[in-house]
Amino acid sequence: MITHDLDLALREVVAMVPREQVFVLVDDNTLTHCLPLLQRTLFLPLSQVCTIPCGDENKTLATVEKVWQFLFDHGATRHSVLFNLGGGYVSDLGGFAASTFKRGMKYVNVPTTLLAAIDAALGGKTGFNYYGIKNGIGLFAKPERVILSLEFMKTLPAKEFLSGYAEMLKHALISSPLELNRVLGYDPGKTDLEELEFLIERSVVIKNYIVENDPTETGIRKSLNFGHTIGHALEQHSIDTGEVMPHGYAVFYGMLAEMYLSHIRLGFKKEVITQCLPLLYEYYGRPVCSCKDLQQLVLLMHHDKKNTSTHSINLTLLQAVGNCRIDQECSDTEVLEALDWLFAL
Ligand SMILES: NC(=O)c1ccc[n+]([C@@H]2O[C@H](COP(=O)([O-])OP(=O)(O)OC[C@H]3O[C@@H](n4cnc5c(N)ncnc54)[C@H](O)[C@@H]3O)[C@@H](O)[C@H]2O)c1
Ligand SMILES: [Zn+2]
Repeated sequence: MITHDLDLALREVVAMVPREQVFVLVDDNTLTHCLPLLQRTLFLPLSQVCTIPCGDENKTLATVEKVWQFLFDHGATRHSVLFNLGGGYVSDLGGFAASTFKRGMKYVNVPTTLLAAIDAALGGKTGFNYYGIKNGIGLFAKPERVILSLEFMKTLPAKEFLSGYAEMLKHALISSPLELNRVLGYDPGKTDLEELEFLIERSVVIKNYIVENDPTETGIRKSLNFGHTIGHALEQHSIDTGEVMPHGYAVFYGMLAEMYLSHIRLGFKKEVITQCLPLLYEYYGRPVCSCKDLQQLVLLMHHDKKNTSTHSINLTLLQAVGNCRIDQECSDTEVLEALDWLFAL
């Protein structure tokens, strides 16, 4: 859970390994904004800090190789520990690099974005984008520990804050009407961290409960994929076209379209969509897309890891708030109808 004593939490981890075996992975932004908070306790030489360029377009095998090479060049062993100091990009990529390095070294996630704090840093999914597929290569490998401190989030840009809020909304939608009212009752334009503390804790509880009950995603964990089939296609398409969309924005749009699909297939109440729409108009903005993009998006969804057949697209939908229906096979026509609806909003 959230720690109010970051220094103590860090000291507890480094007490377990020799100082020269502690490594930190940062991106350009967390190097500037977050590393100083970690260094207050760790005082590591910069030779133990590996910096990678920020942005999901760099979540590639080439960047993983840079991390592996850095670890080899600086004497890391299987008994070393890697601190992933950053958002989901750093924890996904660093978690993968660490858990494959010399058959696996320990890693600790120190999330610095709201999205990573409530989602990406938890649950042990690691990986990188490959062959045009979001997180196309990866493995399940749990972090040794997650150190969650709100101190890091003080420098988070508003856009990244909104990105994390979208995943909180997802946790609420798959959980219960009570959680949904709580999250919708918070104004994400305020970035009030104190008020947010309770909501973060609730979101972490929801994610951890689901992951603990289905660590390898054979059942209930698929509920976390709500909004992500269409969301991942939108996100990958934005990477391919060079206008990278934050993960949470793509998930927000994906959830709207998948709520629409839930409505036409399962009778999900349209009023819930109406409750969420002010967020689109006030904060996220309408997604833009051309007819050519629609076909490309459907093509990307056919490559989604969740599919079990080449003929249909596998989605997690909602019968009602808190009532998920996993493994819903949808046709291209249904998905295109949902995309048409989304882009006409
Ligand atoms: N493993 C999982 O279960 C899981 C779940 C959700 C998302 N993800 C992955 O997470 C990634 C998205 O994560 P994200 O939204 O955290 O994005 P991110 O890691 O790319 O961070 C967003 C931006 O904020 C900057 N930043 C991070 N912390 C900052 C801080 N404290 N102050 C100022 N700037 C800061 C980063 O440098 C980056 O530019 C995607 O790759 C997605 O696939 C993984
Ligand atoms: Zn996500």
